[in-house]
Amino acid sequence: MYLFKQRAALRDFLEQEKKAGKRVGFVPTMGALHEGHLSLVRDAKEQTDLVVCSIFVNPTQFNDPKDFEKYPVTINEDIQKLTGAGADVLFLPAVTEMYPEGVNAQHPAYDFGYLETALEGAHRPNHFQGVGIIVHKLLDIVSPTDLFMGQKDFQQCMIIKRLLEITGIPCVLHIRPTLREADGLAMSSRNMRLSAEERKTAVQVSRSLKTLVRNIRLQPFGELKETARNELKNAGFLVDYIEIADAGNLQLLSGPIPGPMVALAAAKLGEIRLIDNMLV
Ligand code: PAF
Repeated sequence: MYLFKQRAALRDFLEQEKKAGKRVGFVPTMGALHEGHLSLVRDAKEQTDLVVCSIFVNPTQFNDPKDFEKYPVTINEDIQKLTGAGADVLFLPAVTEMYPEGVNAQHPAYDFGYLETALEGAHRPNHFQGVGIIVHKLLDIVSPTDLFMGQKDFQQCMIIKRLLEITGIPCVLHIRPTLREADGLAMSSRNMRLSAEERKTAVQVSRSLKTLVRNIRLQPFGELKETARNELKNAGFLVDYIEIADAGNLQLLSGPIPGPMVALAAAKLGEIRLIDNMLV
């Protein structure tokens, strides 16, 4: 696996590869890699000729400075895992490499519309602008033919879809199902920060979503959400939201629709904020 830290060098290298007709698959990450990330790398490997993974803990998408400072960094393990999964290139830039203009510089705002203010957007001001800025920068450098992202961050996937439309960047977005631990907990880098006790409790997020989804055509949505909220509260969570939305546009629903729906949850356990979602 090649390691690049400078964007110009990576861009030059990839230009040569693309001239040779290779399809380039891209998996952007913030590191602390788990099986979910590695499954994206393996998918990219199957569908493209050259797989680029980036590891960059992007400061502009953290609305909570503590969350940024404490974001897990496990770079040596990450390199080993990526090599094992067959990644061809790792891009590991410094903050100054990605933000030569400074992280606090004004960046033009993307018009993500409703997607930016709903759910995660309401609880994490400016988060999606930060995601948009960094993914746009990364796509400009890598210009992949294919981009691979996890459904675990459902709203982020919709934001990236919109980013591709806004910018006209021609790349195919592949959204892959969430990988789960044996007990059902959605894999996430933040799980590493849970204490042993919290780890046992954390499974309640997926359990409550599963119950909600099972009963979605049997009970009014208000009741379903109230039950899930209470289950999480009783387990010790501080609940940010439990919602059922149209999976096509994330509009919140008060009753079933014929098309695909998605149940989404975000809740804090101690210092750790967990999110999860399930498609119906
Ligand atoms: O999902 C993530 O890990 C990040 O939000 C991303 C897409 C790598 C942008 O920093």
